[in-house]
Amino acid sequence: MDKRKVKIGILLGTTRLGRQSEKVYKYISELLEHKFSEEVEIFLFDIRFLFSQFDKNNFSFNKEAIEKYQDFIKKIDGLILISPEYNHSFPGELKMVLDLEYQIYRNKPVIVVGVSSGPIGGARMCESLIPVLRTIGFRVYQYDILFPNINNYNFEDSREEERLLKQLKDFIHTIN
Ligand SMILES: Cc1cc2nc3c(=O)[nH]c(=O)nc-3n(C[C@H](O)[C@H](O)[C@H](O)COP(=O)(O)O)c2cc1C
Repeated sequence: MDKRKVKIGILLGTTRLGRQSEKVYKYISELLEHKFSEEVEIFLFDIRFLFSQFDKNNFSFNKEAIEKYQDFIKKIDGLILISPEYNHSFPGELKMVLDLEYQIYRNKPVIVVGVSSGPIGGARMCESLIPVLRTIGFRVYQYDILFPNINNYNFEDSREEERLLKQLKDFIHTIN
């Protein structure tokens, strides 16, 4: 009998115009698709979708858009959350999205991926985001993944790719 594939969600946590984090979002999804297609099924969610459906009259997200987000979280076994560092923290719009829900996050494994144009790769953002993720119920993986110097990041570097694959593999294996 076929082993059930692990359902992995990848969430892009910024809406900023010109966001570099989108490169990481695409890179990780392609990497998982190429290297783990046997064991992983991928689901993508870009929080721009929710903001494109913002109901200005009611100062809230449109109901159907919220349901799509909830369905995304509910169906996945684990989440890869990609966020840039803005003033040592994570984007306000990501907080708005995370605050939409509590129950469906309970014990959901999550790994945080930091992105920054600086040399520390969003490590301070991780320090700020992780307590929030724990508060709303996520089970946060022990290590974070960091993408420093994103404007000059070499996505072709095979040693970096190997390191990343090892981290992702370990995260995926902790889910089962
Ligand atoms: C409002 C704002 C605040 C920022 N603060 C930081 C910071 O505290 N530390 C840092 O390393 N980079 C900081 N950056 C630069 C980001 O690391 C940079 O924009 C990077 O490309 C990742 O974010 P992006 O996906 O929005 O492009 C900041 C960028 C913005 C727009």
